[in-house]
This record gives sequence, structure tokens and C-alpha cells, in this order.
Amino acid sequence: MCGIVGYIGESKPISFLVETLERLEYRGYDSCGVAYRPKNSLRIILKKRRGKIEGLKKELLSHQFDIGIAHTRWATHGIPNRINAHPHFDCQRHIFVVHNGIVENYKELKKFLLKRGHKFRSQTDTEIIPHLWEEYIKRRKNPLEALFEVVNLLEGSFAIVALVSSLDKIFVVRKDSPLSLGVLKEGFLVASDIPAISFSTKRVVNLADRQVGVISKSSWEVYDFHRRRRYPKVGKVEISSQEVEKGKFAHFMLKEIFEQPQILKSLYSLYTNREEVKFKELNLSKKYLRTLQRIFIFACGTAFHAGFVGKYLLEKYARVSVEIDVSSEARYRSLPIRKEDLVIAISQSGETADTLASVREAKSRGAKLLGICNVLGSTLTREVDTFIPTFAGPEIGVASTKAYTAQVFVLFLFTIYLAKAKGFLTSLQEREILKELRDVSRYQEKILKELDSLRRIAKKFSKFGCFLFLGRGINYPSALEGALKLKEISYIPAEGYPAGEMKHGPIALIDEYRAVVCIAPQDSLYEKMVSNICEIKARKGKILAILTRGDKEIVSLVEEKVFVPKLNNQDLSPLLVAIPLQSFAYFVAKNLGCEIDQPRNLAKSVTVE
Ligand code: F6R
Repeated sequence: MCGIVGYIGESKPISFLVETLERLEYRGYDSCGVAYRPKNSLRIILKKRRGKIEGLKKELLSHQFDIGIAHTRWATHGIPNRINAHPHFDCQRHIFVVHNGIVENYKELKKFLLKRGHKFRSQTDTEIIPHLWEEYIKRRKNPLEALFEVVNLLEGSFAIVALVSSLDKIFVVRKDSPLSLGVLKEGFLVASDIPAISFSTKRVVNLADRQVGVISKSSWEVYDFHRRRRYPKVGKVEISSQEVEKGKFAHFMLKEIFEQPQILKSLYSLYTNREEVKFKELNLSKKYLRTLQRIFIFACGTAFHAGFVGKYLLEKYARVSVEIDVSSEARYRSLPIRKEDLVIAISQSGETADTLASVREAKSRGAKLLGICNVLGSTLTREVDTFIPTFAGPEIGVASTKAYTAQVFVLFLFTIYLAKAKGFLTSLQEREILKELRDVSRYQEKILKELDSLRRIAKKFSKFGCFLFLGRGINYPSALEGALKLKEISYIPAEGYPAGEMKHGPIALIDEYRAVVCIAPQDSLYEKMVSNICEIKARKGKILAILTRGDKEIVSLVEEKVFVPKLNNQDLSPLLVAIPLQSFAYFVAKNLGCEIDQPRNLAKSVTVE
């Protein structure tokens, strides 16, 4: 979602502010803006525009500035245009604010402010913040005192960075939306995510929820919403600049697809000793795991699909009953969660609003909470009882790829751990599974070496206006994920379905103008897939099949095929088929000239409901 940046320090060229903002581009946005004070001036300059930062850059003079804020907006209230773009300001143009999140009670606050004579220019919820602040400053409060009044009146989620034209300070606020402070040699840089800061400094303070910071050129102070002083520690960022650069790849998405084997190798070494799974930091006792009967999994989008694979694994190996739902539904369902249940929340960012809300709901019912998360220090990792990091490194492409396979891998390891604790898996069986899990990264490498054929196939299939993705069993979630990847970045309508459900509706779609991607590795449901493929072929549907190398039957029935290596344990196949599915979506989107890393309307981290 929106990205925010703030800087205060010794004077820097305005390009510094804009370049830091550019590092947040991947989050998705439709308009952008900056407010800054040129060196030796008291006047704040405001520049906003619809569209890309590139355009904003061209508008800016080569000013030096010493204090500034910047924003990329992803529209929620009001269409994407220059007026609705941030920063927003008060009636006197003294207070300038950029904001991530949603002020839920903005309508009633706006009514109150209109009665008090405030004039609004935009349709945004954000604009009430500078006006409300102005209102409290008018009531003879100093700006910080007034800000406390404001934040305690706002409902919803908000990360705010603001400047007041007469002061050498920036103000920051965090509630349910991430915000970090980078300590520079001279001055401070604030941003809504750490990779954007990591180019400039490795020394970072993660503001906690419900905190307010006042930052001057040489010092910073942090308070909670009750005005009590807090002393957060300065930590070290472990992200290297290489991790947040594309390097030799045309897109972050492609780079991240190629990173997957290495990530799985590292996870394997970290969480196993080849003989058994080791979760040293996991705070769930063996006694608790032994008696665990029910698991609820909550996640959104791709993380939900990873969780869905996890459901198949956990039910099969650990014999627990697993209920899974997308967080936006789970949070409002009357789920019978009890205190003896385990809730697993899966999230790349750890900041997804719906997932956090579903976790809070489960917490209120007393359930144990396990997070599977890629961002250490994120809200999710702070709110759960215990978590397993997926260590996939920063994921910049909006379409999730490496985070997905890392989540599935970790879920597989957790399944083995639980099944063993419950006595459903012997040490010998555990070793067998681990042996093949170790080889998965090598198999993925093999698939990546053969991507050229997929590039050609994608070209041919780019002409189809509608796709069906079919899978069975543990690859039904793979079908959902394959369809999601394609529609996200190529905008081609694509549906994922369990193949056995085809006759109950989707078969009506099939003719020679529709494409069907069939995930058909040689597993126990292979023969069923053969029948489905014959049915599609009989209706002239154009089939791309993902097959096990050496396949003899389906190979002759389909238009195009890609192969994945043969596995002994087919439950590992989602980790292999993910690579051709992601790459296929990538090549189709590339062929169609789509903006792969920043697809329209999408945000990397969905911090609002
Ligand atoms: C799809 C995608 C989204 C996310 C979803 C959850 O490619 O990226 O569907 O998976 O928004 O995000 P996290 O995992 O950060 O909770």
C-alpha cells in the first residue's frame, strides 16, 4: 500500500527524498507527492501529481533541502488525482501530513471540523489530520500536545509523518501500520519499510504500535499515546543492498523466482539436522503438540494458498483437523475457536490488516497463536505467541513467489515436527521425508535451467483471453496459486479449480479459444487427471500440462507440456510445480508488455481492511 518517507538533517539534494520514495514504488501506488523546505528558506514547497514518481522528479528543481516528507498513494478514499495525493495540509498551510492506513471515523471528525470553519480540498480521510491538529494548536496547545489529542481521537490504522512549517522537527506516529526510523550520520530518515531505509543506514529503530516520535536534526524522542516517554532500542538491519536490487534480472519477480532454491537450501540447514526437524525457538511444548486436535489457518492471497497446502499436509501426516479461511472472512465468522486450538497465521509482510485482525480475534478466544512470517519485527511477529521466520529475504515484486515456496517448505517442516510429536511418524519415516525435502532445491534448479521452453509456450498462450487452472489433491492449491499469479500480473481472467469439480460448471467455458493449465504430476490422482484432460481435449480446449518427467500418457494428449523431476513423495510437488506456474505468468505478462513488478491496482502489503 502507500509508502511514506520523512527526512530531517543536514541539507541534501531533493533527489535524496525522491529516490528513497522510489524504493517504496514496489508497494503499488497511483499518485505521489512531496513537501519540503529548501535550505535557508521558511517556505514549504509542495509538489504532487497523479502517476509515477518519474514525473514528479522532472518537476522538482535541484533544490537542497533539510526537512521533507514524501508519499506514494494507493487510493482508498477519493479517486487517484493530484488533489487527493498526499501531503495534505491545514487551512493555514503550516502543517503537512503524509499518511498510510485509514482513518475510520473521518466522516464524523470532518463534520466537526467543517462546523469549526475548516476548508477541505480533497476527498481523502487523511486531510482531517492536519485540520484536527490545527484545531488543537489553536486551542493554545503546543504542537506535540496537540498531536497527542489528535492521535487519541483517530480510529483505524495510521502511520503518519508530518512537518510543521515553523519547526525544525518532523513528527511521526504509528498505529497498526508499520513505520521505522533510520539513524543517519547526520539526521534521520523515516519510512514505511526498512528496505527503503537500508540503502542509507543499517541503524534502525522500529517504532512500536501506538507510539509518537518527535525528531530533530540531532535527536529523537518517542512517547506512547498516553504521553509517557519510551526508549526504543536502535537495532541493526540485516538487509544488504544486493537483496533490494534487481541485479542482472529484468524484474524483481524473475530474480525472486530464481532465488527459491537457495532459500529452501538455507531453510533446510536452519531447521533440520538432516535427521530431524529442529525448531529451536518455537515456543510450543511437546506436551501441547501431543494433545493438539485442531488447527485454524488464517492468511490472504498467496499466503492463503500456502496455508491450503499446509492443510493437506497437516491432516495427512499429523492427523489433526484443520480449518482454513481467508483472513477477511475468518475475522467475521463465528468460528468455534477454543483455547486448546492452535491458530496459524501466515503472512509474508506480517502487516496484512485482515490477518492481524483474525489473529486478534483468535487471541481474544484464548487460542495459541503461531505466526509464519517473512519480516522479523513485523506486527504479526510481535502479536503471536511464537513464530517461524521464513527467511526468504525482502520480496519486492508485488506478486509473491519466493515467500510462497518458503511458507510451504516451513509448513512441511512444521507438519513433520507435529506428526513426530504426536507419534504418527517414526524417526525412519522422518529421515526419508527429509532426504527428499533436501533434494527439492536441486530439482527446482533443474526446472529453472529449462525455462526457455516455457518462454516459447507463454508466447503462444498469451493470445488466450481466459484461463482455467486445474489440479487435484495437494495441487488444488497450486492451481489456485497459478491462476492468481497469472491474473495479477497479466490481467487475463484466470480461475483455479479442483479438477474433479470441472464437470460441475467450469467445463461450460471450454472451447478452442480457452486455455487450460493442468497440474498433473504422477501421484495417486494421476488417472483421474487423465480423464479430465480427455474431457477437455474432446471439447477442443488448449492444454498446457505440468507433468512428471518421463510421463507417457498425458504427454500425447496435450498441446504443450513442461516437466518437473520425478519425486518419491508427491506431497512435495507443490514446491516444484510452483516454479513453472510462476514463470508462466511472468512470461505471459512480459509478452503482453505488462508492468510486472507493480501490477495495476495492487499493493505489496495490504495494511487496510
Ligand atoms: C499475491 C500476493 C498477495 C499476498 C497477500 C497477503 O501474489 O502477493 O495475494 O499474498 O496480500 O500478503 P501477506 O503475505 O504479506 O500477508
